[in-house]
Amino acid sequence: MLNYDNKIILAPMVRIGTLPTRILALRYGADIVYTEELIDWKFLRSKRRINDILKTVDFVDQTDGTIVFRTCHEEKDKVVLQLGTCDADRALKVAKLVENDVAGIDINMGCPKEFSIKGGMGVALLQNPEKAFKILETLVNNLTIPVTCKIRILDTPEDTLSLVQKLVSSGIKAIAIHGRTKDERPQHPVHPGTIKYIAERIPIPVIANGGSKEIEKFSDILKFKEMTGCSSVMIARAAEWNCSIFRKDGMLPMDTVIEDLLRLSVDFDNPPANTKYCIQNILRELQETPRGRQFLDSQTLEQMCTIWNLQDYCKEKQKMYQGLGIQGRWQVTPSDLEPPNKKSKLANEVNLDGVIQMQVCFIRSNYNDLNLPKSQLHAWAGKNGFSLPIYQTRQVEKLFQTILIFNDKKYTSTFWEKNKKFAEQSAALVCLYHLGLKTKDDLIKLGSLL
Ligand SMILES: Cc1cc2nc3c(=O)[nH]c(=O)nc-3n(C[C@H](O)[C@H](O)[C@H](O)COP(=O)(O)O)c2cc1C
Repeated sequence: MLNYDNKIILAPMVRIGTLPTRILALRYGADIVYTEELIDWKFLRSKRRINDILKTVDFVDQTDGTIVFRTCHEEKDKVVLQLGTCDADRALKVAKLVENDVAGIDINMGCPKEFSIKGGMGVALLQNPEKAFKILETLVNNLTIPVTCKIRILDTPEDTLSLVQKLVSSGIKAIAIHGRTKDERPQHPVHPGTIKYIAERIPIPVIANGGSKEIEKFSDILKFKEMTGCSSVMIARAAEWNCSIFRKDGMLPMDTVIEDLLRLSVDFDNPPANTKYCIQNILRELQETPRGRQFLDSQTLEQMCTIWNLQDYCKEKQKMYQGLGIQGRWQVTPSDLEPPNKKSKLANEVNLDGVIQMQVCFIRSNYNDLNLPKSQLHAWAGKNGFSLPIYQTRQVEKLFQTILIFNDKKYTSTFWEKNKKFAEQSAALVCLYHLGLKTKDDLIKLGSLL
């Protein structure tokens, strides 16, 4: 059972707290890592799948095949999944889905963003202690793993304490306190005194948070711990900027951290856009340098790796994964959609008799702007005096399939894509293959063959 006493923790951070960053934080010395906030109703659209190739557990959104949450054995006993929720039953349903894959569940009661507040989540729960209590109590009573919550302080230490006491009575194992009110922004000073006031008066570990502005090295974490009288500390921005803040032996240069993050991103086949975002937040103002600008132009992991001389590592690993059959995302069809919906009947109404079908997907990161399947097909059609193809796309929920009509023949991919553009490109790939303009080997190299 996860113990929250005397721990240094990676705080939840949207888009930053994905698997590569979490593993990096653990390897640098963090004791516990929180996921980014995951919204309960979005999570409920996912299904658990074991990924034998990456050795991960993936929760895959059944409406578009994207991965909502990826985790692995290395973090199993140290990862806490943070949920955004306003509903006890829904929160429990999600927690039950992940109960055997994570070490703890945390409820976000500190997010001041409009999206959270309007949905009754985040700091909205601080104004509704009964509901907050009900969510925590439901989880505590029905889960085998510990439950925590992360709050902001209220206007006075006394008000904060009475709220915390109510939450603690639900049976949670620890509480993270961000020492700012809901109206204070990161640049405002944190209130360590209020955190201390609470920590001295409640029986469970308080995890102090909000000190990053003054945290520039590991010993500053210990200072913040001391100042707040807490048993544990949670770090967000200082880790976002340089994750080696968790190293007791001293911080590493920025480039080393980026290289370590890139290797993990390749290892876990992390979406390039997410890796790019994380590195942008490490580079910060250095994005304005020539190398920074080169980085901003990159789209694929290989392009990013090249800037830090890791292109061979990336190529070899990606080649190995592709050889083992990894496709970057999971196949989802309208018949998988849960719950079954009326619209999915439409999918069966289209007659695919006479349509040349093949299961290929379109992986955008494997192309540049000039060699896209549609461009290749259109160029070939022009050169050989054919009319350009016609694209007919249908949509079921958030999935798309295109029938491409070319030279009196129809082509489609049975892989449902997440947008219209991708569906057209995968239909074009089927057509190119049947015209002999792409070989099976080409499709394998492009990660398209399923
Ligand atoms: C990029 C970013 C994303 C964040 N996302 C979350 C989140 O998903 N859940 C949450 O409870 N807090 C989130 N926070 C707030 C942090 O967890 C933390 O409370 C805040 O940054 C103060 O801690 P610090 O001084 O160590 O940065 C986020 C902060 C940042 C900078």
